[in-house]
Amino acid sequence: MQSMQSDSSTLPESAPFLRPLAFPRGQVARNSLWLAPLTNLQSEADGTLSDVEERWLLRRAEGGFGVIETCAAYVQQSGKTWPGQLGVDRDECLPRLRSLASGLRQRGALSIVQLFHGGARASRALAGDLVSATAHAVGDDHARAATDEDLIGTIDSFRAAALRVAAAGFDGVEIHGAHGYLPAQFLSRTNQRDDRWGGSLENRARLLRTLVQEVRRALPDHLVGVRLSPEDYGTVAGIDLDETATVAGWLAADGVDFVHASLWDHRQPSKKYPDEAPFQRIRAAVPLAIPVVAAGAFWTPAEASRWMHWAEALPAADGSGGAVAVALGSAAIVNPDWPAHAAQPGWEPTRLPVSAEHLAAVAVGAPFIDYLRRRRGFVADPA
Ligand SMILES: Cc1cc2nc3c(=O)[nH]c(=O)nc-3n(C[C@H](O)[C@H](O)[C@H](O)COP(=O)(O)O)c2cc1C
Repeated sequence: MQSMQSDSSTLPESAPFLRPLAFPRGQVARNSLWLAPLTNLQSEADGTLSDVEERWLLRRAEGGFGVIETCAAYVQQSGKTWPGQLGVDRDECLPRLRSLASGLRQRGALSIVQLFHGGARASRALAGDLVSATAHAVGDDHARAATDEDLIGTIDSFRAAALRVAAAGFDGVEIHGAHGYLPAQFLSRTNQRDDRWGGSLENRARLLRTLVQEVRRALPDHLVGVRLSPEDYGTVAGIDLDETATVAGWLAADGVDFVHASLWDHRQPSKKYPDEAPFQRIRAAVPLAIPVVAAGAFWTPAEASRWMHWAEALPAADGSGGAVAVALGSAAIVNPDWPAHAAQPGWEPTRLPVSAEHLAAVAVGAPFIDYLRRRRGFVADPA
């Protein structure tokens, strides 16, 4: 992997992540630190935002994050994947969403809702019919191939959800094209369709591009971004780094304001090109003016600084260097004040595992703590 510059964190006030982050349509985040989208199962059973989930997000805005992104929020019941998942699928969700959007704005953060459809990975019990690019077995169950009518309905639902989110007062949306959910099921080489939604990369990318184009058209002035998995990871199959880079370039041309690369571990080299980090090819495909965000195992200010110095110097599609941002997931769950503290010399974030008491004290509600217990090494004490 291309070497990163030496640690610059001895002068935290000059840390690159504290610099404002400018987006192509003029929005500016107060810094380049982003709360990664985190499924937390804290919504009401009908998908309405709860007080607990609102508090969880407001607390991270109070801690200084420049951009606060919600968990994956389903746009259509057929995409609902977890009990307690946030829904943005109908107007009844609006009052609570408005409250969250205004609370985040009052606390100085830009706000983004992650728009999501689980496809074959949705919950049969919650979603009913499971649809995907291609019919296939899902454990003991199966998903059927989405029809044109299904896809038109899904595209309409993404557009309507985006308009709803904007009406609620959020600064924008991110379309979840990563992690093997519906748009990624189409993008994947496992897509066996022989119609205009499958086959060539152009066809496999059509669903994601149509979602971006339609949402962009619906929200000309809001932030519209996309999250991508650069290549296979865990259970995600059929995602090729060169294809992801090509698609990232197309999505930039389609008008996204940012590209969010879900790396899981920013230090890991590419599987396809072991001398490189996957991020390099994504940055290289996207014009300078469009920030590229990275998430994956950032814990300390030193790690974030080191990575940003390296990433800011990378070639972009139309020159050298371009805005980048760091998204924190696990570190932000445990350390809600990470951005505020990172400016203090010598501050070290709390590391895993942490107690349930610690999590409760930093506005992580009981359903989220239970969910985190499923992740090995996160919560120290037994349930
Ligand atoms: C509890 C949990 C929930 C997550 N939920 C989402 C999600 O809703 N949408 C998404 O795109 N990624 C989700 N992710 C992935 C994170 O956004 C992030 O990319 C990943 O955790 C790596 O960053 P980290 O090492 O800082 O945690 C989730 C991760 C965790 C740990």
